[in-house]
Amino acid sequence: MDFVWSDSFARRVARFQGSAVREMFHWAQLPGIISLSAGSPAPELFPVEAFRQAANQVLDEDPVGALQYGITEGYPPLREWIAEHLRGKGISVTADEVMITTGSQQAMDLLVRVLFDAGDLVVVERPTFIATLQALDTCEVEYLSAPMDGDGLIVDELARRLDGRPKLICAQPNFQNPSGVSLSLPRRRQLAQLAAERHIAIVEDDPYSELIYEGDALPSIKSFDQAGLSIYLGSFSKILMPGIRVGWAAGPTAVLEKMAVVKQSNDLHTDGFMQRVVNLLVRNGQLPAHIDRIRKVYRERRDVMLHAIADHFPAEARYTQPRGGLFVWVELPAEVDCGRFVRPAVERLVLFTPGAGFHRDGTGQNTMRLNFSNVEPDRIQEGVKRLGAVVKEQLTKT
Ligand SMILES: Cc1ncc(COP(=O)(O)O)c(C=O)c1O
Repeated sequence: MDFVWSDSFARRVARFQGSAVREMFHWAQLPGIISLSAGSPAPELFPVEAFRQAANQVLDEDPVGALQYGITEGYPPLREWIAEHLRGKGISVTADEVMITTGSQQAMDLLVRVLFDAGDLVVVERPTFIATLQALDTCEVEYLSAPMDGDGLIVDELARRLDGRPKLICAQPNFQNPSGVSLSLPRRRQLAQLAAERHIAIVEDDPYSELIYEGDALPSIKSFDQAGLSIYLGSFSKILMPGIRVGWAAGPTAVLEKMAVVKQSNDLHTDGFMQRVVNLLVRNGQLPAHIDRIRKVYRERRDVMLHAIADHFPAEARYTQPRGGLFVWVELPAEVDCGRFVRPAVERLVLFTPGAGFHRDGTGQNTMRLNFSNVEPDRIQEGVKRLGAVVKEQLTKT
């Protein structure tokens, strides 16, 4: 008889949920399909030539450093660059307070492993990034899902609902994934203050702040933190390329040191070759122009998507108007279940991500996330048109 693996699974495995975004990937291979599902950057914007040159330079100048085992906390010159970059944003950290991670997703995973015992309480925005929820699920946490509006997490409402003592507030202040919404300036201050009053740590997950298409950048939550209670996560995935898997955590050494111990058993250190390549790429003088180009391309795609939704979605659909990032969030009437639209959408050769997976309080069935970064404008137009037809058709059946 075959071995039944599931008989040996840990109890906590019952909590694990696959990513709704990842589930879409196999459909994305269908010929002719338009995927508005994944949050992938536009590959035509990857700085491939600069990457090639940097890679060759690293191999010419520092092959042993690049290919030998390295320091868990990361390559010191890159940590220096990140600290300087953050100081430019009003976040006062030294290189010792920066740890390089294998994507910022790993930083979240390390942090929650350090903080949570089974049954501990965490505050998450409703909705929030699926991989954050997946990392938290592995720690068997209890969720307090904090509602949001057009100005982000409603801090007054969170303060009213705080009973028990959460260990951590997970916040994405800029162009949140999935909603596209940003936390307003007064609420950033207010959230830092609330956390200080109630002795709760904050993780500020911020992979999108450079992808700003209009208006002024707002100061980070961490810049209001006087108590050393916040940890800031950043990433090169959206400004360079996601496949290189280089991100970082910046925060007090007391927590980074423990995260480093978890990282030792996880992957020991982030790819030393990639860290050196990234270090050259961010220092070659081309980064500001590169980011400007990304902003220009994505701004146009966002505008095309918003116009197409206005033209093709039913009047009942409400949707966000993100000032940056990669996503538009659509909300349909409460009784609608967008999960049921996936099949008919695939039949019409368009993909979206149903919103329920971004929630842990059983809500969100009537929502969907649409990505605009990874599709050419005419395909966005056509994809939204196809999806709008599916939504209208399904609404008549609801
Ligand atoms: C909110 C948020 N945090 C973190 C990440 C992960 O970024 P990385 O590729 O650096 O792991 C993403 C990527 O989509 C994201 O949307």
